[in-house]
Amino acid sequence: MNTEFLIKDAKNFVNQNVTVRGWVFNKRSSGSIIFLQIRDGSGFIQTTVSKKDVPAEVFGQAHEITDESSIVLTGTIKAEPRSPYGFEIQAKDLKIISLAQAEFPIAAKEHGIDFLLSWRHLWLRSPRQWAILRIRSRMMNAINDFLQKEGYLRIDSPILTPSACEGTTTLFPVPYLPAWPDGDNQTVPSWLNPDQTKPYAFLSQSGQLYLEAAIAAHRKVYDFGPTFRAEKSKTKRHLTEFWMMDAEAAFMDFEELLGFEEKMICHLIQDVLDNCRAELQVLERDVKPLEKIQPPFLRLTYEETLKKLKELGSDIQDGEDLGNDDETTLMTHFEKPLFITRFPSAFKAFYFKRDKEKENLTLSNDLLASEGYGEIVGGGQREDDYEILLKRFREAGLNENDYGWYLDLRKYGSVPHSGFGLGLERLLAWICKLEHIREAIPFPRTIYRFTP
Ligand code: 4AD
Ligand code: MG
Repeated sequence: MNTEFLIKDAKNFVNQNVTVRGWVFNKRSSGSIIFLQIRDGSGFIQTTVSKKDVPAEVFGQAHEITDESSIVLTGTIKAEPRSPYGFEIQAKDLKIISLAQAEFPIAAKEHGIDFLLSWRHLWLRSPRQWAILRIRSRMMNAINDFLQKEGYLRIDSPILTPSACEGTTTLFPVPYLPAWPDGDNQTVPSWLNPDQTKPYAFLSQSGQLYLEAAIAAHRKVYDFGPTFRAEKSKTKRHLTEFWMMDAEAAFMDFEELLGFEEKMICHLIQDVLDNCRAELQVLERDVKPLEKIQPPFLRLTYEETLKKLKELGSDIQDGEDLGNDDETTLMTHFEKPLFITRFPSAFKAFYFKRDKEKENLTLSNDLLASEGYGEIVGGGQREDDYEILLKRFREAGLNENDYGWYLDLRKYGSVPHSGFGLGLERLLAWICKLEHIREAIPFPRTIYRFTP
């Protein structure tokens, strides 16, 4: 008997006895044979429990089993070309660990999305959700591996932050209790900005500013963690909590940055094609469009993009930012990812370096994914001059005192540098071809809900 057996390894155990520990996700019965669909976390397999091959008591157990009951089952693995899994188990023994209540709330009927989201804790068990979260885990590792091989050091940036990285309208305030003890003595701690009168921190929108500090110590750095935006957007692309990988490199200019983003995305797509075939199959993902993701990506400036959009029938006006619909229009038109570069400063953050030729344009880029998906990466070259950066804070109506530490970086050995942020769930929505980004994270938080 092999107690360490996992379903994914069935091919190595043909005609051998194995013990599976897992869950029954479907049961069919044809009188003297009961078919149990079983999963164990590693994969799925069908088991036949035949009245003539097992003791009466075991057949009784199989008969009693409800969907989602947990079990220990012993049997022989057989090759079964008619099964979608290629193998099946002929049961010899079976014990119920915990009999699930009948009936499982999200049994295989059609359900509305709100219902499924309310039962997310159980919905995770469905094969589609299983496949998506396995690809998510794979991509997290692939991102780490890629950056480490490229010489990037992982730096963990803080989640509680004193000021905005990406605009003040999407900040989540959090009461910051230690700094404001109860009682009479409510003096502002010396390390807090004296202008700050309200007792809260903000959840991080991006670790970028902290990475900019770390490049002077480590040259090339990245972070990867949860980020937060109080997004009022009700689109299929927005979460209020999502995972971002920020990367930042000293001495990297704008052109090099685009090349690096391209290399990373191509690497990740290849990795998923090489390692997640079974999961993509569960999702019924057509992989042909992904196989076309090869360098070089298309590149258009913001101005060229506007021209293209107008040709494609958009009513976008000069100087306007692209909306979700514009991104969809473009990326339904183009087969490969698209870099849009040099956005006007009016709708980009304070930290972007400006174009030498056109002061009002930033050295910024968005990378848009194909098949209608739109932005998955935002990046750019950073302003490295102290006086100009100070001016930018003032123009943006931001209090420069909130950013004293960030300005310091331009006083002590400032260098040209660039970086970018990749939204993990946006990447996954594209790879898995999801209708909505909320399936790309285990427990999604959107403007509508933060439960379960
Ligand atoms: O374009 P964004 O806002 O850029 C930054 O935050 C930079 N500080 C990153 C950097 O340069 N280090 O966000 C980066 C990416 C977007 O391209 C998108 O993929 C994702 O983060 N993103 C979101 N994903 C889900 N829900 C949201 N509300 C998102 N907002 C941004
Ligand atoms: Mg962006």
